[in-house]
Amino acid sequence: MASVTSLTASVHQRLADALSAALPEAGSADPLLRRSDRADFQANGILALAKKAKANPRELATQVVARVESGDVIKDIEVSGPGFLNITITDKAITENLAARYEDGERLGVPLAENPGTTVIDYAQPNVAKEMHVGHLRSAVIGDAVVQILEFTGESVVRRHHIGDWGTQFGMLIQFLIEHPHELDHKGEAEVSGEEAMSNLNRLYKAARTLFDSDEEFKTRARRRVVDLQAGEPETLAMWQKFVDESKIYFYSVFDKLDMEIRDPDVVGESGYNDMLDETCRLLEESGVAVRSDGALCVFFDDVKGPDGNPVPLIVKKSDGGYGYAATDLSAIRDRVFNLKANTLVYVVDARQSLHFKMVFETARRAGWLGEDVQAQQLAFGTVLGKDGKPFKTREGETVRLVDLLDEAIERATAVVREKAEKVGLSEQEIEENGRYVGIGAVKYADLSTSAVRDYKFDLDQMVSLNGDTSVYLQYAYARIRSIFGKAGDRTPLAHPELELAPAERALGLHLDRFGETLEEAAVEYAPHKLAAYLYQLASLYTTFYDQCPVIKPAPAQEVAENRLFLCDLTARTLHQGMALLGIRTPERL
Ligand code: ARG
Repeated sequence: MASVTSLTASVHQRLADALSAALPEAGSADPLLRRSDRADFQANGILALAKKAKANPRELATQVVARVESGDVIKDIEVSGPGFLNITITDKAITENLAARYEDGERLGVPLAENPGTTVIDYAQPNVAKEMHVGHLRSAVIGDAVVQILEFTGESVVRRHHIGDWGTQFGMLIQFLIEHPHELDHKGEAEVSGEEAMSNLNRLYKAARTLFDSDEEFKTRARRRVVDLQAGEPETLAMWQKFVDESKIYFYSVFDKLDMEIRDPDVVGESGYNDMLDETCRLLEESGVAVRSDGALCVFFDDVKGPDGNPVPLIVKKSDGGYGYAATDLSAIRDRVFNLKANTLVYVVDARQSLHFKMVFETARRAGWLGEDVQAQQLAFGTVLGKDGKPFKTREGETVRLVDLLDEAIERATAVVREKAEKVGLSEQEIEENGRYVGIGAVKYADLSTSAVRDYKFDLDQMVSLNGDTSVYLQYAYARIRSIFGKAGDRTPLAHPELELAPAERALGLHLDRFGETLEEAAVEYAPHKLAAYLYQLASLYTTFYDQCPVIKPAPAQEVAENRLFLCDLTARTLHQGMALLGIRTPERL
């Protein structure tokens, strides 16, 4: 594996060296290098530095230019305006840099982080015996992309699916199942499908709920059952496990449809921390972080008050002795910090839970579990809206079943694929496979291409549109490049650093060079949308290149054709790798 120094980094280094030679007191000051339309790069940092040193900016800029090492990488550097630097790179440096990336296989020259740490990512956390909804979709899609991006940078990532598998509602469900023992039985010998599992659970849930609301005696029995469950009574636990197992069949079928790998050992639900709850409370109480208030164990915050102006505490233990969501999350923090040895905890959870996490993190900080060396952060995401801009609901006002949504996306995408299928010569099997990749890709991309905190509109028409910032557009760009290789005859991709580059080739090349920097940014900021934006721009730059720089017809000179094929191939590989990190497939033919 050979990581490649990016052109941005090379230029940055040369400017920084020249700057500290021209202005020693600037130390390791940042010349603030940016991509620019006027030249390849512009450096804007000299102005502020000159101001600080009480020097004339244009003069300082001129001195930097005089001292900068040019030749191999920098072709032109000139002062512009009040003291900016415009920098042009040599064509040779661009092609050589890309050739080194091309040599580096799947990593494309992207370096691994020098000091990787351990990050625990809490994502894809549906609830047992409940249907998954669009909120769970977002957590899964964003979380999975962040996992892939971080792993690609060399971070070691522990995945945690904090499923909702504990709580008083299980008393009612278990009691009902004990009284109606065949409700979860499977029909026939065949393995039960995810859909069937969920519909069994749904039916049981509704029936149990109805009984609970109408029959006082059942209610009493259900409440007693909660006590048995908490005490770990074997028969009760076995029944509870049935609900968990049945739900997992359903969850896995949805994740499978989402083309997402969820591994069983990473599913550590709320119940996984039951053994720690007592101790968590004891530690919080002994250290004075939590106090007794009206019989409950609470943590108070200066800045968290209810509408009446009274402080709203985080309740760690209820007055009836029960533990809630917070106690579990606090225990999970201890597990992740002290057992999993995490440096960073990331929670991909709906923004509507932000107050909960704020209080939980602050409590953990006060207890000394989080601090300088271990940081926690919620990667909060916004609400999924319908076309009308209101929270996504069915016409009847019910939450939309995730599976229905995914199926519809696949159906529409399949129709789009089918339209072009004949021309491309796809078999029925390929049409169906591509329909899944395009449909699921569309859903994922729509989610990942806007910043997570923002709400976004779930609009299938827009999502599967061939024009605009959609995954299909990117998938087509990829397939189009691949198809060129079928027509290339005996010409093969080969870098020719001696060739002069056309403007569209340079623009494409400079963008390809930025893949690693984009990934680093996306990783540090947990911002997959930055990678999505990069890929979209890559596809657009490629389109311009393809319009302006013929590869096959009219046939250019042999070396030019080879060099262009090389640019095509590197673009395709970058698209493929980038999309894979977002969890989206790029079919070879589309
Ligand atoms: N199961 C929860 C829900 O559906 C999300 C869990 C988030 N993770 C956590 N550690 N609390 O809302």
